[in-house]
Amino acid sequence: MRFLLEKLILIILCYMQILAAAQKLKTYNTKYDSFNETHYTELDVQKPAMISNDALQITPDSASEDFDRKNKSGRIFLKTPFRLWDGHSSNKSTSKIASFTTSFLINIYRPKNETAAEGLAFVIASNTQLPPNSEGAYLGLTNAKTDGNISNKFIAIEIDTFKQSFDPDGNHVGIDINGVESVKTESLSKHGIDIAPIGPKFFNFWVQYNGSSKVLDIFVAEQEEKTGPTPPKPYSPILSYKNLDLKNIVNEYSYFGFSGSTGNYSQLNCVLRWNLTVDYLDKGQKEWLHIGLAIGVPIIVLFLGAIWLGYYLNKRRVLRSNSDILGKLKSLPGTPREFKFRELKKATNNFDEKHKLGQGGFGVVYRGKIASENREIAVKWFSRENLKGQDDFLAELTIINRLRHKHLVPLLGWCHRNMKLLLVYEYMPNGSLDHHLFRGPEVETLNWNFRHKIISGVASALQYLHNEYDQRVVHRDLKASNIMVDANFNARLGDFGLARALDNEKTSYAEAEGVLGTIGYIAPECFHTGRATRQSDVYAFGAVILEVVCGLRPGTKIGNFTYLADWVWFMHRDGHLLEAVDPRLKGDYDAEQAERLLLLGLACSHPIASERPRTQDIVQIIAGTVPTPIVPPFKPAFVWPSMMPLDIDSSAANTGSITTASLTTSHYNSGWSDQQYVNRENYTGNSMV
Ligand SMILES: *[C@@H]1O[C@H](CO)[C@@H](O)[C@H](O)[C@H]1NC(C)=O
Ligand SMILES: *[C@@H]1O[C@H](CO)[C@@H](O)[C@H](O)[C@H]1NC(C)=O
Ligand SMILES: *[C@@H]1O[C@H](CO)[C@@H](O)[C@H](O)[C@H]1NC(C)=O
Ligand SMILES: *[C@@H]1O[C@H](CO)[C@@H](O)[C@H](O)[C@H]1NC(C)=O
Ligand SMILES: *[C@@H]1O[C@H](CO)[C@@H](O)[C@H](O)[C@H]1NC(C)=O
Ligand SMILES: *[C@@H]1O[C@H](CO)[C@@H](O)[C@H](O)[C@H]1NC(C)=O
Ligand SMILES: *[C@@H]1O[C@H](CO)[C@@H](O)[C@H](O)[C@H]1NC(C)=O
Ligand SMILES: *[C@@H]1O[C@H](CO)[C@@H](O)[C@H](O)[C@H]1NC(C)=O
Repeated sequence: MRFLLEKLILIILCYMQILAAAQKLKTYNTKYDSFNETHYTELDVQKPAMISNDALQITPDSASEDFDRKNKSGRIFLKTPFRLWDGHSSNKSTSKIASFTTSFLINIYRPKNETAAEGLAFVIASNTQLPPNSEGAYLGLTNAKTDGNISNKFIAIEIDTFKQSFDPDGNHVGIDINGVESVKTESLSKHGIDIAPIGPKFFNFWVQYNGSSKVLDIFVAEQEEKTGPTPPKPYSPILSYKNLDLKNIVNEYSYFGFSGSTGNYSQLNCVLRWNLTVDYLDKGQKEWLHIGLAIGVPIIVLFLGAIWLGYYLNKRRVLRSNSDILGKLKSLPGTPREFKFRELKKATNNFDEKHKLGQGGFGVVYRGKIASENREIAVKWFSRENLKGQDDFLAELTIINRLRHKHLVPLLGWCHRNMKLLLVYEYMPNGSLDHHLFRGPEVETLNWNFRHKIISGVASALQYLHNEYDQRVVHRDLKASNIMVDANFNARLGDFGLARALDNEKTSYAEAEGVLGTIGYIAPECFHTGRATRQSDVYAFGAVILEVVCGLRPGTKIGNFTYLADWVWFMHRDGHLLEAVDPRLKGDYDAEQAERLLLLGLACSHPIASERPRTQDIVQIIAGTVPTPIVPPFKPAFVWPSMMPLDIDSSAANTGSITTASLTTSHYNSGWSDQQYVNRENYTGNSMV
């Protein structure tokens, strides 16, 4: 259920991303350093405006008659409209608004030193058309009839050179919304600027609008020469207007340009340079968005409906995951399958205490029987609820579910239910190695051949995990109780993998605190690195070898020694190695094999990870095809940090491996600090390195 919901949320998030993408801004850039006739193709020039003398003449620049300049209005706009806001957004108040930045160089010139009139404006309007009778005070924006009507849908930055009754003066900038009576003005005189002085002067304006902050800023600076460099933009705007919501003013698709007018007096309204950057909403995606909404919404609704239906119909809430990974797992015949929780509940008689086979670090193992298949199973219920995540688990499962080896306990399947994870293994009726070694005096002890066979079986399983499988798997919890023994005394390694799916902070080691026989399996470097590696598996394997040969648990206190390995090393130094062999065998063992195994066990117990034999060599040492390692008489000291990298032969390729058992370092350091034998003489290493 949780998994489905996660996927659903993912789908919805994706969908929202698509919706957001539909609101994504695109950027338009245009830049005119001067103007000529070729620009008539891009610009809508409403007569009597014209392009002449390398400039936009918003009102006529007629050399002939004064008359031709007076009482005129004109417009020049970019022909392309821009989508400035999202008219289809379900929530208008949260939909995106375009932003723009524009800069233009103007010259308002009064011929013959006459009074200047009327003004020039930068405009965003719903159309490029010049309103009739928009001369004089109307600046080419409105006329007496339409002025102030909200259906005008424009916003203009006026640069006004003629005082009307409503104007502060004849030298100001103002913000006009749908009418020429400005909503906000600022006198230029206050800033030492005469925008239309006697003689030619050039001013550069910057108009910036931020669609998210909804702030409009206007800057102005004088430019020394017509063709000179652009002056730096002043630090502070001359006029700033806040809470300007474009979508409440202009049409969704609007045009950018200029308008201007003259009246009873005249002026030249020249724009000499212009650049404009608009972060507009992509118009191409509008239909797309519609289609998306039309298809996507019903699908989501249906999907939600189906899920909730499923949820209610299935009272036990046993929803099978439908992920791709699981789909693939299911499709492979003979591979582990998913079990229903109720199936396992029934098989184990509701997880009856009597069916409990054991309790490990990560959970409890129950014995069960699937009646329909007449098959005995061992169900491991992981106690942790804090699985790192569904995907981690599935990734892990895809790795371990393909592990197949005659010395591995076969995985039959899994069950994942409400954050609970159960793994189903084939039941091993003969129990664990642990059980066979220590089952008590009344039963005949495990004979030498069986012991040897078990050790070599475990070695070959380890070799498979470490080197033969396509992904390196580290067992990380190798111990006698994890080694199952079948009817023919073949070893079957169990409980492998899954390190990544489980919370890294603790491991079965950490939880086994105080349990004798677990602590001795942990390699000393693990307390520092917190990571399980192949070398730490080898270390644990060494402990298993000594355990099997000596018939004593690794944590057995013997002589003055805390650990079995220390005692065996002592026996080795004294030249009495074979006295370490389990006395219960009553001398009935192969001495050559026993010596080889004991030396191998010691070599694997080397405190320095890089000095331990490699798994592939271990297999051959046991088989006797490679010489037994040379073990120094004194146990070498544990050195940290190690001089050699862990996992020496593949330290760079850690990505594909499962090596993540972390350990809490504090508790166990003492285990190695009170070593009895510390010998700093050079250790010659073992023969097969
Ligand atoms: C017009 O201006 C453009 C650059 O904006 C330039 O490439 C082109 O040559 C000019 N045309 C004429 C006729 O001057
Ligand atoms: C200005 O021009 C308009 C026509 O565009 C005309 O109706 C009006 O009378 C003129 N006004 C003056 C003062 O010349
Ligand atoms: C739109 O969004 C605003 C702010 O997020 C919220 O206050 C308002 O209720 C929403 N309106 C609708 C119709 O969803
Ligand atoms: C305009 O005034 C300037 C300075 O006041 C003067 O130099 C110029 O000759 C005048 N131009 C005309 C056409 O009167
Ligand atoms: C021009 O002057 C006349 C008379 O002085 C006035 O009625 C008219 O409104 C003025 N026109 C403009 C456009 O200011
Ligand atoms: C505003 O303009 C619209 C359309 O041009 C018109 O129908 C409406 O009557 C006008 N409103 C006013 C107050 O003039
Ligand atoms: C626009 O305003 C938003 C929010 O105040 C801010 O994060 C962003 O940087 C501004 N954009 C520009 C180009 O200044
Ligand atoms: C636009 O022009 C202004 C000044 O004219 C300049 O500061 C700015 O860098 C220009 N922007 C672009 C994108 O050309």
